[in-house]
Amino acid sequence: MKTIKVALLGFGTVGSSVYQTLQSRQSKLERLIGRKVEIVGVLIQDETKQRDIADGILVTSSFEELINVCEIDVIIEAINGIEPGAGYLQSVLEKGIHVVTANKELLAHEGKSLRETADKGHAQLKYEAAVAGGVPIIGTLQQLLQVNHISNVEAILNGTSNYILTEIADNKVSFQEALHAAQELGYAEADPGNDVDGWDAFYKLMILSDLLLGNQPDWTQVTRRGIRSITLADIQAVETAGWKIKHIASLQVHEGKARLRVEPMAVSQGHPLYEVAGVDNAVSIDGDLAGNLKLQGPGAGALPTASAIVEDFVQLYKETDNRKAIMDTTFSAEDPSRLQDWL
Ligand code: HSE
Repeated sequence: MKTIKVALLGFGTVGSSVYQTLQSRQSKLERLIGRKVEIVGVLIQDETKQRDIADGILVTSSFEELINVCEIDVIIEAINGIEPGAGYLQSVLEKGIHVVTANKELLAHEGKSLRETADKGHAQLKYEAAVAGGVPIIGTLQQLLQVNHISNVEAILNGTSNYILTEIADNKVSFQEALHAAQELGYAEADPGNDVDGWDAFYKLMILSDLLLGNQPDWTQVTRRGIRSITLADIQAVETAGWKIKHIASLQVHEGKARLRVEPMAVSQGHPLYEVAGVDNAVSIDGDLAGNLKLQGPGAGALPTASAIVEDFVQLYKETDNRKAIMDTTFSAEDPSRLQDWL
């Protein structure tokens, strides 16, 4: 069977962790997928920096060199911001190269157009790692949506904000100290304003909106507030009533109208997100058949994010190979040309 050739875009906290996971789990991946997995190239920013990358793997700062020199089946994208990632992903999806990405800002802005390009290129676009880190929220919602109507989602989607709020409440540290620790632990974005001003949770909520509603609301109509102005005094004031302050992203559908918000809220002890502490993310989902479900786990950090990316990668090949097997038996005998439409 043909080896699966993978290229990584980005070798920061997440990219390097994906690299290590793919290398250390090679034999497990081969057993799961039934094919060898080989990393053929890594796109980096600074060629002078020392990196622990095996000989024989192309390490380059030129995207053109990467795609021209390497034969690539899958791109794993772990770079920040919209550009240059959007341009890179559009061009590879067009060529039928599958993409696994953790880039929430890019997906919130360009998800629709990337999905259209992927469809045209007969490629797959996977993004489990973009929302809630290691918590498998995208896959779970996709499963639930097959038979449920989902009218309410309440979630903690930014690990950094939850970590900061927890640290201030439990250890009485300052906002800046808690943010610094979140940066040291690799939770915060390159620009931590994205975390503490609510943008990161907002982008993730827009991805959920695409998935649940098939579209996004007018961004200017969505409340987006971060945690920058929350003080220890605010936290202690709500604590005296037995409540906690949590940074919550919500999507509610009532009488056909959707309402989306991202803001700090005081929640009481019975609330599904009350106990969510530290870097954890959690998502509470109301399905009309399934009832209330809650998923919780590490929402940021190198290993949980790498886990979600590599799970997506495995899933991608299981789906692609299954689909190919079905199409092979369904179409190949009668009309081989139709196979191309499916691959
Ligand atoms: N900065 C993000 C967070 C990383 O803290 O949740 C994961 O998306």
